[in-house]
Amino acid sequence: MNKDLVIVKLGGSAITYKNKAFAPRKGVIETLAKEIKELLGEVSLVIVHGGGSFGHRVANQYSLDQGLRKSGQLIGVSKVRYRMTELSQMITGEMIKEGIPVFPLHPSSFVISSSCKIRLFFDKPVKAALEKGLVPLTFGDIILDKKKGISILSGDDLACRLAINLKALRLVYGTDVNGVYVNTPSGDKILAKKLRVSELSKVRFCSAGVDVTGGMRHKLKTASDAVKAGIKVLIGNITVPGVLSNMVLEKPDNYTVLIP
Ligand SMILES: Nc1ncnc2c1ncn2[C@@H]1O[C@H](COP(=O)(O)OP(=O)(O)O)[C@@H](O)[C@H]1O
Ligand SMILES: [Mg+2]
Repeated sequence: MNKDLVIVKLGGSAITYKNKAFAPRKGVIETLAKEIKELLGEVSLVIVHGGGSFGHRVANQYSLDQGLRKSGQLIGVSKVRYRMTELSQMITGEMIKEGIPVFPLHPSSFVISSSCKIRLFFDKPVKAALEKGLVPLTFGDIILDKKKGISILSGDDLACRLAINLKALRLVYGTDVNGVYVNTPSGDKILAKKLRVSELSKVRFCSAGVDVTGGMRHKLKTASDAVKAGIKVLIGNITVPGVLSNMVLEKPDNYTVLIP
């Protein structure tokens, strides 16, 4: 019997120290790899990770979110690719240590955008890897863009697109907060356990360091596409041991579920 498919995004805020250059949270990555190993007994997974202090920092330094405007940015493109590969390699290593048959795939080689919107999305290797029992691992990346030269493909968008294309049961966004906080009429902030897509316009956002792909605001906008496609989206704090597992299996814990 085929196992249910869940797409998991490991947020850069959880797997790196977002405000410290190129600093992985090794302990968190190790714990997540252990949880993923256990989860694979029950579900199929595609793992997507974010850039955190490996991607956003360099992208910001070279203004890569504005596309390719001058030749001086080219070396920045290489540096982002280098740093994302470095982070991905580290995660791959931790997963191998746990005996996970991980299969790293680089979006720069299978996605092309036009004006920052995904145009070509060659997902066949992801599907083929899954069919063979491998665990695809991919990440937010810098990709080639037909109009802007280059664009930044956010891990959030990539995870959402994979969830829709592969008809996943759930899409789990792991980050460094317990979920989405909403303001109550008295002005307090509370964690929304359930949040309707139609209520997203009421969410107030605060800034959280350098995130060239739009932070929580963009995550929710993207996530609503998955919800509209019938996929359950869960957002929670994967730096807390056990929360990733509980979201993937939809067991009770502190997290936000997005509903239609
Ligand atoms: N209303 C909100 N509810 C929860 N988090 C929010 C909200 N507004 C802004 N944030 C910020 O969004 C951050 C998560 O988004 P982001 O930094 O892009 O994470 P990731 O690296 O996981 O993609 C949190 O650290 C939090 O500070
Ligand atoms: Mg983000």
